[in-house]
Parts: sequence; C-alpha cells; structure tokens
Amino acid sequence: MKNRKSIASPFAVAATYCFLFSLVLWVAVQGVEYARAQLVHQPVPRDDATAAAAFEAIVPVLRHPRCMNCHSSGDFPRQGDDSHRHTMQVRRGPDGEGVNGVRCSTCHQDHNLAGLHMPPGAPDWHLPFPAMPMIWEGLSDHQLCELFKDARRNGGRIPQQIVEHMNIPLVLWGWDPGDGRTPVPIPRREFLAKIQEWAEKGAACPVDASAATSQTLGF
Ligand code: HEC
Ligand code: HEC
Repeated sequence: MKNRKSIASPFAVAATYCFLFSLVLWVAVQGVEYARAQLVHQPVPRDDATAAAAFEAIVPVLRHPRCMNCHSSGDFPRQGDDSHRHTMQVRRGPDGEGVNGVRCSTCHQDHNLAGLHMPPGAPDWHLPFPAMPMIWEGLSDHQLCELFKDARRNGGRIPQQIVEHMNIPLVLWGWDPGDGRTPVPIPRREFLAKIQEWAEKGAACPVDASAATSQTLGF
C-alpha cells in the first residue's frame, strides 16, 4: 500500500502540473483569439457618402448587358450586347426556368459551351420568378439601389446577403461569359470590394439628379 502510493504520487503531481500548465496555455490562447476577433469584427462606422459612391462605382457592371439580359423587363431573357429578345420563343415561365419543352437547362449547362453563338452557362441558369422578377431596366441608380435593399423585392436579402449573392457562379459568369461575348467592365476584385464597402458602410443609396432637383424645388 505504502509502496504504491510513493510511486503514484510523483505521477499525480506531474500530471497535475501538466494539466494546470495546459489550462493556463488554453486560456491564454483563447484570450488572444478573442482579442483578435474583436479587432477583426470592429463595426465599420456608417458613412453614407462613401457607401453611395461605392454603389455608383459598380453601376456600369449592373447595367451591362451580361447582367441586364436576365434583369430586364418582359417575361423573357435577352441576348447579345444589343439585348435583343431571346430567340426560339424562350419565356420566363412559372418558375423562371422557361415553359414546357423550352426549359433553360435544355440548352444552358453549368458552363459555357465553346464556340460563337453557343449557349453560355453557369450553375442554376434561369430567370427570377415572375412573382419577384427583379427587373432593373428603367430604374434610376437610386431606385436600383433601393431595390437591392428591399427584402420584399430582392429575394428576402439583407445587404450583406446581396454581397454574398455577388459571389455566386451565376453572377461571376459576367466576367467569363464565353466566346464572342464582352465581359462586364470593372475588374471582379474591385467590383466585389465596392459592393462590400457599400454594405458595411451602411448601404446608403446615391441621390438621383432628378430627385435632387425635386428636393431643391421643394416638391
Ligand atoms: C441567367 C440569368 C442571370 C444573369 C445573367 C444574371 N442574373 Fe442576377 N439573378 C438571376 C436570378 C434567377 C436571380 C434570383 C435568384 C434568387 O433570388 O435566388 C437573380 C438575382 C440577382 C440579385 C439579387 C436580387 C436583386 O435583384 O436585388 C442580384 C444582386 C443579382 N442577381 C446580380 C446580378 C449581376 C451583378 C449580374 C451580372 C454580372 C447578374 N445578376 C446576372 C439571374 C441572372
Ligand atoms: C433552345 C435552346 C435554348 C433555350 C431553351 C434557352 N436558351 Fe438561352 N441561349 C441559347 C443560345 C444558343 C444562346 C447564345 C446565343 C448567341 O450567343 O448568339 C443563348 C443565350 C442566352 C442569354 C444571353 C447571354 C448574353 O448576355 O448574351 C441569356 C441571358 C439566356 N440565353 C438566358 C436563357 C434563359 C433564362 C432561358 C430559360 C428561361 C434560356 N436562355 C433558354 C439557347 C437557349
């Protein structure tokens, strides 16, 4: 009995020290992690002018035919840099995927097919649903920005989710649209940085020239 204790106790002491040391180390590591997380997640102060300017900066992409061909008025997609109506009677249909035999996925795959006038493609290639058609055509910059912020019209998204949506393959397709198609104008990295800046600085919208005039005139 006495013998066993004398062997066991140095182990017990060593184990206890070991445990205490690990505990202290763990607490220290957690502390550093926490401090770092605090630094990283510092809320960015709201800055309306910068947010609105960031939105203005990405408008040339939003209004580009690569985006507008699915976000224009009418119950059909459009094609080409002149945004002509999609050939072959293609229509939006009840779920944005076309009607009956002419479903988008009949021709469009999850990648571009090589060659001029071959169907472009990206995962989930379809139009927005008719109940929430996300039509940008005819909107001023201010109205387009308000649409992006309106959960009832944008697919239930908060601004940070609009940022995330800009990173999905269907949107990123605009930078790699397949043979013979002009890509959207602003470098992808810059575009994503701007939309992020817009959201984190409070997602303010640019004031339209017309809106500014009516304000000055007191309408
Ligand atoms: C092939 C058709 C197609 C193309 C091309 C396309 N979109 Fe869309 N877009 C959709 C569909 C469908 C939705 C609805 C998806 C959802 O709600 O999940 C959508 C929704 C959106 C939304 C969120 C809703 C809104 O309107 O506020 C944004 C932002 C958006 N698209 C950006 C873009 C940008 C930027 C481009 C061009 C680089 C682009 N899209 C090109 C089909 C398209
Ligand atoms: C019968 C085959 C077919 C079907 C069905 C079809 N498309 Fe297309 N689509 C094409 C072809 C081919 C092209 C390329 C035309 C070209 O480059 O001249 C094209 C081009 C497009 C473009 C133009 C891209 C650009 O910016 O120029 C969009 C947008 C588009 N289709 C959306 C759709 C959507 C949305 C659906 C379903 C509602 C659909 N298409 C159904 C064959 C089809």
